[in-house]
Amino acid sequence: MYLPRRNRILRSNPAIRSLVAETRLGPDDFIVPLFIDEGKDTKTEIPSMPGYYRNTLDVTVKEVKELWSMGLKSVLIFIKCKDELKDNTGKEAWNPDGLMQRSIKAIKDAVPEMLVMTDVALDPYSSYGHDGIVENGEIVNDATVEALVKMSISHAEAGADLVAPSDMMDGRIGAIRKGLEGVGFTKTGIMSYSAKYASCFYGPFRDALDSAPGFGDKKTYQMDYANRTEAIKETLMDIEEGADIVMVKPAMAYLDIIREVKNSVQVPVSAYHVSGEYAMIKAAAKMGWLNEEKAILESLTSIKRAGADLIATYFAKDAIRLID
Ligand code: PBG
Repeated sequence: MYLPRRNRILRSNPAIRSLVAETRLGPDDFIVPLFIDEGKDTKTEIPSMPGYYRNTLDVTVKEVKELWSMGLKSVLIFIKCKDELKDNTGKEAWNPDGLMQRSIKAIKDAVPEMLVMTDVALDPYSSYGHDGIVENGEIVNDATVEALVKMSISHAEAGADLVAPSDMMDGRIGAIRKGLEGVGFTKTGIMSYSAKYASCFYGPFRDALDSAPGFGDKKTYQMDYANRTEAIKETLMDIEEGADIVMVKPAMAYLDIIREVKNSVQVPVSAYHVSGEYAMIKAAAKMGWLNEEKAILESLTSIKRAGADLIATYFAKDAIRLID
């Protein structure tokens, strides 16, 4: 048989495959989410996220040192707020001595070069478990945006490098940028969760922070997963309002969105490989139905191939070990 082109030539051995590989994972690709708890010297495994922990701040600081030594350069922090501090205003979110603010300072003191990104949304602080202030059963936009501005400024004051609004209120990126500029925080970046969908894949995360909505769902602010054009609209608006980095979330069921966003913007694109995506791989591996290591590398590579410049993932440390 004569064939002018035999595509298998470039797949015939590991050396040639590695030479022509289009996508390669490395430590610069990852953002490491961290869950932080009050207390001392305690690690609590998250039941629906086996192998992932909510740590007290002292343990977290040790963890951050280890992450830095592995070449990982950014963490995205979430805190578990005590029940008695939750209310409908979410005011604990901008308490200068709150767990979030203390965590930012402690991490920056211990490893100043580590980029600290902070989740900005009211849900962990809300007695209703919603990302905004509730009035008459509705999540109100503009009052919530004011709260998010206060929250962002307090994170910047504590030393955050980038604030990451994950709430999906309208106009919050512009308001946060204006708020930061107004008090002289001209070096604080904004990584916007721009195309964040109302997704069942956040379930395990809400276990980790005890932040599940107390009534209803998040569909009046997070996006409908049936939509693609809307993701581009949201993302372009966030960039106009001042976002430095944009994000698509979740990742694996949204690879088309990641690619379309990547082709539409001139800023770095991140993707959040979320808790439920982590849990699925862990569960299948535990049952012996999937090879965990291969599933991790294939998943993360596909997210990068789709167009993500950065990936927030609970598998960051595993990936570094596997790449080595
Ligand atoms: C808070 C927030 C959530 C996640 C990140 N920030 C939960 C939600 O919106 O309900 C989910 C992350 C994950 O599932 O890994 N707004």
